[in-house]
Amino acid sequence: MVPNYITINDVGPRDGLQNQPKLLTKEQRLSLISALIDAKVPEIEVGAFVSPKSVPAMAGTAELFAALENSTSLLSALIPNMKGFELAMSAQVPVMSLVVAASNTMNLKNIRMSTEDSIRVSKDVLKVAKEQGANVQAYVATAWACPFEGKIGADSVFSVTEKLLQAGASNIVIADTIGAANPLEVNQLMEAMASRFDLAQLSCHFHDTRAMGLANVYAAITAGIRKFDASIAGLGGCPFAPGASGNVATEDVVMMLEQMGFSTGIDMALLVKAADLAIELTGTAKGGNAKPWIENYYLN
Ligand code: COA
Ligand code: ZN
Repeated sequence: MVPNYITINDVGPRDGLQNQPKLLTKEQRLSLISALIDAKVPEIEVGAFVSPKSVPAMAGTAELFAALENSTSLLSALIPNMKGFELAMSAQVPVMSLVVAASNTMNLKNIRMSTEDSIRVSKDVLKVAKEQGANVQAYVATAWACPFEGKIGADSVFSVTEKLLQAGASNIVIADTIGAANPLEVNQLMEAMASRFDLAQLSCHFHDTRAMGLANVYAAITAGIRKFDASIAGLGGCPFAPGASGNVATEDVVMMLEQMGFSTGIDMALLVKAADLAIELTGTAKGGNAKPWIENYYLN
């Protein structure tokens, strides 16, 4: 691994599209994912194996995986429980992501289980995943703040992370689900995480609700994090977390990283094309703040 390389996982096709008022067709979802693959985004979250009644926008995720079997990007999907794991296994999903909220109320609203129950279900899934050789990672959602419980103590995040890693999660994504963290808090938590866990197994997920997304990415970089979620054109939000707006835009994160001398392997000109497509398909995505600058610099 190149020392200054940072891995970007685009979660627009899942975190982004799950919250759109407009439901995209499978062909439209596929065209967005293909545009991200063309732009050489190394990792992409394609969809979710969740109840289609809870999140109609994610119905048909298995068909997307069938159509994407030759993908050059590493593809993942969200799974909330054993049923999600089984569906993802039969769709031959390369990486599955469990989700456990550090806040109990958020966990109940999101997947209708307490955090404790969710950890138990996740342990069961991780055990079966190990037996079957599946790569399962886990999100720790509402890691800094919860829309219902307010500030979340770092001890809850340490404890959930430790249990999931011990149970065999391949990676832990620390998520600011509602975009309520500030860079100082991000740096403090991620420094503390880095002293307890293997940095190579940690990544971060920020929403840009209060325009601190990029600053939070930087704060996590200074703590040693080298893997980030971001969302094309800033798509995003959680249907069960009031106040959550889009993720930090992939084009903004990539532009900042490249300007700082990090490499991402992403083709900026094609990334902008993917952002244009996300805007066109959804009609609501704003596009990253850096988009006009990237267009000027890379497309002229
Ligand atoms: N995929 C598809 N369907 C699922 C499922 C899964 N992973 N897990 C459960 N179901 C189905 C059940 O088969 C059942 O279907 P039926 O009504 O046709 O019999 C129905 O959902 C209810 O099952 P139950 O186990 O009682 O689930 P629930 O009603 O307690 O809901 C979740 C739990 C996790 C399925 C639901 O809350 C969910 O899908 N949440 C997703 C949240 C999400 O994606 N949030 C955004 C990302 S963080
Ligand atoms: Zn999110």
